[in-house]
Amino acid sequence: MSWDQVWLDINIATMDTDLSTAYGAITDAALAVKDGKIAWVGPRAQLPEFDVLSTPVYRGKGKWLTPGLIDAHTHLVFAGNRANEFEMRLNGASYEDIARAGGGIISTVKACREADEAELFESARKRLNALGKEGVTTVEIKSGYGLDTDTELKMLRVARELGKHHHVDVQTTFLGAHAIPPEYKDNADAYVDLVINDMLPKVIEQDLADAVDVFCEGIAFDLAQTEKVLTAAKQAGLKIKLHAEQLSNIGGSEMAAKLGAKSVDHIEYLDEQGVKAISDNGTCAVLLPGAFYFLRETKLPPIELLRQHKVPMVVASDFNPGSSPLCSTQLMLNMACTLFRLTPEEALAGVTVNAAKALGLEDKVGQLKLGMQADFCLWDIDSPAELAYSFGVNPCINVVKNGQLVHQ
Ligand code: NIG
Ligand code: FE
Repeated sequence: MSWDQVWLDINIATMDTDLSTAYGAITDAALAVKDGKIAWVGPRAQLPEFDVLSTPVYRGKGKWLTPGLIDAHTHLVFAGNRANEFEMRLNGASYEDIARAGGGIISTVKACREADEAELFESARKRLNALGKEGVTTVEIKSGYGLDTDTELKMLRVARELGKHHHVDVQTTFLGAHAIPPEYKDNADAYVDLVINDMLPKVIEQDLADAVDVFCEGIAFDLAQTEKVLTAAKQAGLKIKLHAEQLSNIGGSEMAAKLGAKSVDHIEYLDEQGVKAISDNGTCAVLLPGAFYFLRETKLPPIELLRQHKVPMVVASDFNPGSSPLCSTQLMLNMACTLFRLTPEEALAGVTVNAAKALGLEDKVGQLKLGMQADFCLWDIDSPAELAYSFGVNPCINVVKNGQLVHQ
């Protein structure tokens, strides 16, 4: 066999759903890489012979390999911060009070409109470095802090550039309909028209987005407005997804699922009818424990119903300056278990196999099996549950991206 790289003396949490073991685990395993892809994976005892003299061999000292982590929901391009609002909330104001008073998302919008591209790129690069060091190899980044055509395009350009200059793959999402900008305060419909007729065509023409998202909520866009944006995006051939049922239940998830959304995200207020709709349409449920924690939400997402209806559960950071200033996918693994009571295996699936599905990348990443991209991490752990159990000492030893060892 002629391979570019072989890993021995490892255990692998493949997250391969075709394997019957927990975590798709193969103990005392081996893995071979060729041309940036997984060329062989299985028990060490079955590894075919290969030329040990010409093939680089990495030894894992009995530790665990997992797929590279995928953070399927972030807003990591932004300017400024909202520590002042954090302070206001600790003095009694609510997230909704602040949003209605022109703070919240709109305060980050002001900062983003003023920031130049280089500034946005540099701050986002630092955040991406932090995720990369934790083993993240694919990340989704949304726009949505521009709310005018130029700034929305600027944010997406920065996100695309990040992907070109960083080993972490970046999937971009156009979230022009994130909030109603001050200029359209009393005319949300006109803003929706701007999103559809001006921003979206430019986003498409400049190939700046892989997907389109909307914040469907009482403080943002209603069901009809949301449907209009998602329908236009779908007609243009983009993937669709939705911030839905975060603060109330207005039926966004059900509507988006019926339109073929890849995911509905937040969903604390989703009811059984909504869960059935997303299950019937193969839509993933993206759980965002960071926002739940940071906003001190008490309504739990309907985890048991999601399990019953076999909805793929995804865990993501929602990293953003307002509701989840927590730049750590590893922390989300822990919070998904402690706050949402996911099992460590469900949590890990949420940042690997299911996260890939939410991004429409399930044929490429998220599982360590034949033909998949060679994106994986070696962890200084003795069992995969440790990834969710503990937090603070980063156990990530090595990251391999597209078959290349990453030096970071
Ligand atoms: O995902 N829910 C809407 N959007 C973000 C919050 C953005 C912000 O507060 O800046 C979220 O939580
Ligand atoms: Fe979000």
